[in-house]
Amino acid sequence: MIFSRGFRSVCQRVFYRNPVVRTAANWAFNLVPSRRVGAMHLAVYDQEKSMGPLQRDEALLLLAVARTIAPRTVVEFGFFHGHSAFNFMQALDDDALLVSFDVSDVSARHARRAFGSKPNFRFLHKSQTDFTTADVDDRPVDLVFFDAAHDLELNQATWRALLPALTPEAIIAIHDTGLWSREHFLPLHAEFAAQHPDAWLDEQRFAHQPGERAFVNWVQSEYPEFAAMHFHTTRRLRHGLTLLQRQQVLTVSRDEAARAA
Ligand SMILES: C[S@@+](CC[C@H](N)C(=O)[O-])C[C@H]1O[C@@H](n2cnc3c(N)ncnc32)[C@H](O)[C@@H]1O
Repeated sequence: MIFSRGFRSVCQRVFYRNPVVRTAANWAFNLVPSRRVGAMHLAVYDQEKSMGPLQRDEALLLLAVARTIAPRTVVEFGFFHGHSAFNFMQALDDDALLVSFDVSDVSARHARRAFGSKPNFRFLHKSQTDFTTADVDDRPVDLVFFDAAHDLELNQATWRALLPALTPEAIIAIHDTGLWSREHFLPLHAEFAAQHPDAWLDEQRFAHQPGERAFVNWVQSEYPEFAAMHFHTTRRLRHGLTLLQRQQVLTVSRDEAARAA
């Protein structure tokens, strides 16, 4: 042990009390590759103002999910300008692959210019509904992100195509499943809501992407083996995310493991 317990306890106290020390420690530890969290890009991501890309907190959640499960293969529907793709890239091991779909020419250009040289990234200029297992070199898919068409029928078709490629423990994240609360509207939300007057659930709550909400409901009714967890709040202006995963019984003994094998 290099440092005494007393010295470490003083350092810990200073670290928790002083933000300057925390920032300095953070910079220093970031120089060590194995300590890096890969979250520094998030400071430039927008929060409430973000209408296309993921909001900063949502990106933080997905980064944490990806870093925790260390996926080998990630599929993303909806590249846009690459915010969510870049975020996933920060979590991937060198042998992992991110395949991102988008129909837009602008997105294709962005992907070529900004991501062209990244070896574990593949942009596919095609619709989410045209997913085939060959797109991921027949690799089992561990993590999927739906953030493209926002349309129930297109998502259903995509789901059917995707299902055979999923690992048993695959996590599927669906963006825009939450509700906006009127009290937190900025002018851009008011403008969007004015164009979709039928999407109000009541005086306060607005379903900004009802197609994504209907999609989650459909998966749960047609594929009850999938459990859903919603990351929603109306205490902030958040687009909301839902995570789906097949329900599973966690094995707790060698006998159970042998029976399950
Ligand atoms: C909300 S943006 C994606 C934002 C991105 N995930 C991010 O967080 O930075 C939606 C994207 O989906 C694309 N899109 C729309 N319909 C699509 C479809 N059928 N297949 C694939 N991409 C589609 C649009 O061109 C747009 O770039």
